[in-house]
Amino acid sequence: MCGIVGYTGGRQAAPIILDGLAKLEYRGYDSAGIAVKNNGGEMQIVKAKGRLKVLCELTSDGENLGGVCGIGHTRWATHGEPSENNAHPHCNDEKTVVAVHNGIIENYAPLKAKLMRRGYTFYSDTDTEVATKLVDYYYKKYNEPLRAISEFALHARGSYALAVMFSDYDGEIFAIRKDSPMVIGYTDGGAYLASDVPAILKYTRKIYYIDNYEIARLNANGVTFYNLDRDEIQKQSTLIDWNAEAAEKGGWEHFMIKEIHEQPDVIKNTVNYFLQDGKLNLSELKLTDKQLSEIDSIIITGCGSAYHVGIVAQYVIEDLARIPVRVEIASEFRYRKHVLTGRELVIVISQSGETADSLAALRDMKERGIKTVAVVNVVGSSIAREADGVLYTKAGPEISVATTKAYSAQLIAMYLIALKFASLRKTLTEAYYDSLINELVSLPDKISRVLENKSEVQKFASEMVDKKDVFFIGRGIDYAICVESSLKLKEISYIHSEAYAAGELKHGTISLIENGTLVMGILTQSELIEKTVSNLKETESRGAYVAVLATEGNDNLPADFRKLSSLPKVDEHFSASIAVIVMQLFAYFLSVLRGNDVDKPRNLAKSVTVE
Ligand code: F6R
Repeated sequence: MCGIVGYTGGRQAAPIILDGLAKLEYRGYDSAGIAVKNNGGEMQIVKAKGRLKVLCELTSDGENLGGVCGIGHTRWATHGEPSENNAHPHCNDEKTVVAVHNGIIENYAPLKAKLMRRGYTFYSDTDTEVATKLVDYYYKKYNEPLRAISEFALHARGSYALAVMFSDYDGEIFAIRKDSPMVIGYTDGGAYLASDVPAILKYTRKIYYIDNYEIARLNANGVTFYNLDRDEIQKQSTLIDWNAEAAEKGGWEHFMIKEIHEQPDVIKNTVNYFLQDGKLNLSELKLTDKQLSEIDSIIITGCGSAYHVGIVAQYVIEDLARIPVRVEIASEFRYRKHVLTGRELVIVISQSGETADSLAALRDMKERGIKTVAVVNVVGSSIAREADGVLYTKAGPEISVATTKAYSAQLIAMYLIALKFASLRKTLTEAYYDSLINELVSLPDKISRVLENKSEVQKFASEMVDKKDVFFIGRGIDYAICVESSLKLKEISYIHSEAYAAGELKHGTISLIENGTLVMGILTQSELIEKTVSNLKETESRGAYVAVLATEGNDNLPADFRKLSSLPKVDEHFSASIAVIVMQLFAYFLSVLRGNDVDKPRNLAKSVTVE
């Protein structure tokens, strides 16, 4: 999704802004732009279609643009094609009000019509130009920037993080947000705003999260916050506990491979955080044991890979804690006419904490009085703040668009929730419960062993590089692993792939199997292996090239199946955590071999703040 960076202070703004935008490139975008202004000077706006480097070339990395105050933007097109004209910043005709915006103004059409009746004309197809001219309209009417911004908020519907410069207000940036992320930072060197922390982490780790309908006014002397009535409000800052290096590539070729290798540490950190002196502490759920005991079913929701974590968790929680679990894609869940008892617990899983559909599902459940818990990576994000309780995954900043380490950390959080319910419901013997805790503690070493064997996966990827279609099949938790493996593969290698419950293929989809189609079987669930092997054989006899990923010790597999590296043994409830690593590597190597932009796959955005 779009990225915003703003700076005002004593230094030249453009290089700082372009550097910050580069840190947000991972979010996905198709054009970029910047507006800067020197005190008493003219507003300068430069925009370019395509990669940020085009904008950097046009401005000599910002050096050509003088000015100590500015805003910049990377745009992920929603209204209007990617073009220089539609790129932000947008401005009024006099170039005295300039703005960048993330999100969608849902009522932009009636607002535009209203502004046109008042004599405004429009040069782009964007809702952002409408937003800018709406601010301009109220600024001209009330001659006061805070009033103009709050009137904008009262009249615009939808989601927005909006940053505005008024040429009458030298060295000042005004910002407001609703349902679109925006963070503010301040140091002696000046004030910063950004859509995400990595953009400004180099300058400050003291961050303010602005809430919906809060206005921030930034200048060289500091940041002041206001509500919509323009009353000043006090806000607490949060200290970010990861440093700027965590959001850098650190010598790796891509963020994705770096993040894949961070998984042992991420899992260790997440386990250690919630496991104190060997005892599970989930007090951050903000639910007492009594309240948890009253819960009679769990509903898990999320999008994409976060939803896939939910599929694994469904098997794990139901089996370990014997409590009914339902898992549903957030964009469907939010529109369902639910039948609820009031004794459900809703768990929303989200790396960014800003995914529009997941947030809407959470709000819907809260409105109905259902207890909600979030499993979130980004501290202070909307979902984290709005859920009743939040378990933060300790993955650190995830920059690669395709998630790896956040997925793994989310799995851990869900295993811990399973164990919590299991212990309250007394569904496990003490010895088995303790052994599961030990298994969690041992996961990082086992994952490191998988990573040490990555060259085997690389070799396999080089053999498969020309495949046009890949099917992943498995049963139970293996099916859940297939779904994530398939998404990982298609999103970064652009090879068509599907995940199927192994028994389901023959009900139609098997007709797609041709000579040489790659069918990959995931075989970690011992009770289900024979069944899946039969299904793999069915595809093989129709020409499929069968490859399998199995746990070590599984020697009874047909000799003609191509075996990928054997997975270290782990309690089978947790096997997704091991198997997925191989599949992440497989997708990564294929993407590299095919020359794709691994960290920023086409058409995708890191944080999906539109519905
Ligand atoms: C896939 C991927 C996406 C996200 C999905 C939800 O690699 O990253 O499918 O999992 O967009 O995002 P969050 O977790 O931020 O809600």
